[in-house]
Amino acid sequence: MPDFQGILESIYQDAIKANDKGTVATYIPELAHIDKNNFGIHLRTFDGNEYGIGDYNKPFSIQSISKVLALSKAMALVSETIWNRVDVEPSGHPFNQLALLEIENGIPRNPLINSGAIVIADILISNLKNPKEDFLSYVRDLTGDDTINYNKTVAHSEKMTGFKNYAAANLLKSFKNLKNPVEEVLDFYFHQCSIEMTCSQLTKAFYFLSNKGTCLLNKTRLTKTQAKRINAIMLTCGFYDEAGEFAFEVGLPGKSGVGGGIVALLPDHFVITTWSPGLNKKGNSKLGMLALEQFTTKTKLSVF
Ligand code: DON
Repeated sequence: MPDFQGILESIYQDAIKANDKGTVATYIPELAHIDKNNFGIHLRTFDGNEYGIGDYNKPFSIQSISKVLALSKAMALVSETIWNRVDVEPSGHPFNQLALLEIENGIPRNPLINSGAIVIADILISNLKNPKEDFLSYVRDLTGDDTINYNKTVAHSEKMTGFKNYAAANLLKSFKNLKNPVEEVLDFYFHQCSIEMTCSQLTKAFYFLSNKGTCLLNKTRLTKTQAKRINAIMLTCGFYDEAGEFAFEVGLPGKSGVGGGIVALLPDHFVITTWSPGLNKKGNSKLGMLALEQFTTKTKLSVF
């Protein structure tokens, strides 16, 4: 077995010394205050062991990582009908690009770009009694942790500047691919993105996707096939126009967020989360990607 703690230690030492730590996202004003010197990694292996280094117990804004949890809840609720409204192809474009959505008649390329996640938010609103409360409970249950919460200041901050998401939602509405009012769907979407979690909470929450749909508390959340599908979507679409690069360098299904988090997993082996708030030009954590490349290279553990 690899010396996991030793490997995390050496990755951490390289990361904290890095000259270029990327750029913190500023288009959501509340995120601009985050110190890019934060760096944490948490690993949970299938034999029940946990390994952590750096700021792995500090909460951060999960942003687009929430899209995977929202998709899993929507699949559990309505299963296959989702795919009439959202495709499963990589977009090859940035997460907030609008051109393809118009060309392709309001059917988003996949559920992990913003327009696709907005359709998933619409599905959740149509199928949950109290959408915000119920979604938060779902995330808390997956993690076994009731302290997880929305950051209302971040949600509000994004609402004030989320013009492209308003454009996407209005475009979806014009193509009749949004059933609920634009304001209501975006309010839910901005809240889901504002959830704060630590690296160690995220490795817990994503465990079910590495375990054929069964979560840490031994509850079945998804079928084996549904878990396979979400992992396939993460591998091909989880990093937008950098999905190929992540598969090439890291070789794991994963998802990033503009808060600087990345969750990645190897089915039946482990879940790993990194947090480093500085982003590269494609909006993915610069040092997080490097750290995961080093992790799969040093451990020789990846899907390939
Ligand atoms: O909708 C947005 O722009 C943000 N709430 C989430 C974007 C995001 O995290 C992209 N990921 N790297």
